[in-house]
Amino acid sequence: MKKKRKKKIKIKKKNFALFIIVVMLLAYSITQVIFLVVKVITSPKKEIEIKEEKPIEKKKKETKPDETKKEEKSNDSEITINEKIDYFNIEYLDRYLSYKRNNNTLTDEQIIKNVNMQLDKTPYKDIIKANNLNTEKVLVNKYYYLEEDYVPDDLETISSTYALSNMKLVHEAKEAFESLSKAAAKEKLKIIAMSSYRSYSYQVNLYNRYVKQDGKEDADTYSGRPGHSEHQTGLAVDVYNQDETYTNFEKTKEYKWMQQHAQEYGFILRFPKDKEDETGYHFESWHYRYVGKEIAEYIKENNISFEEYYATIIKDW
Ligand code: DAL
Ligand code: ZN
Repeated sequence: MKKKRKKKIKIKKKNFALFIIVVMLLAYSITQVIFLVVKVITSPKKEIEIKEEKPIEKKKKETKPDETKKEEKSNDSEITINEKIDYFNIEYLDRYLSYKRNNNTLTDEQIIKNVNMQLDKTPYKDIIKANNLNTEKVLVNKYYYLEEDYVPDDLETISSTYALSNMKLVHEAKEAFESLSKAAAKEKLKIIAMSSYRSYSYQVNLYNRYVKQDGKEDADTYSGRPGHSEHQTGLAVDVYNQDETYTNFEKTKEYKWMQQHAQEYGFILRFPKDKEDETGYHFESWHYRYVGKEIAEYIKENNISFEEYYATIIKDW
């Protein structure tokens, strides 16, 4: 009996020792886990997170002090541009930086807008095929061109009450123009279309005639080269009042009326006085472009050119 009880006490002691070992192991493991968690929380942020907050900039290039070309390039590394601007286009990044280097008094907005308008390029060089064909959003100028065989979809002849003979515009523009002229006629004003759709080949003859008359440099300030005149879109119209020559349209009551009302019919003055640098042409009081009512009202209200609208709102590069 005594022997049995001794054995029981021995077994109990053994279990108790095992229990203590398990508890110690558990305590050790928990301490290790807590230690790891604290380490992760208090460790510094990863490099990639810091990089994300940096403005976009060109990688620094190694330069030797006596090499001017490389030194010039190393200046690029200090130039940054605000990529948060709504009309920033990542594909133009190098062009923005290079334009900024040469125009360091301009704001980032102006840099991006000007490059989007292609103003860092030479007119008629590296030209881009116009997109948004057969819509009121198509942009044609010294950087965007139409193919030789491009003819708009739905040309219609403007009523002879409001135009010289055989003047065509695309359907929507023609309807809008007739409404505009009709409204002006109610106020005893005459707004008559004297040039509207012009084919590529027509523009070839016209441009060549101007070049012969005034020389290429001058001609380029008032006439589009073939493929670069928006008259080929069937959305542009030159007007006069039949009493004054079209070049004197600025002096007429009709011009004043157009300034107040053209946008209500979806037309804009396409080459305004203070926008020569953007449009590439001298002021033309007689040349109007159909862009639809919404765009026309916006352009009028904000006093911007169609180029600027394209570069900041349409953004279809
Ligand atoms: N007169 C305008 C610029 C044209 O020829 O299209
Ligand atoms: Zn014109």
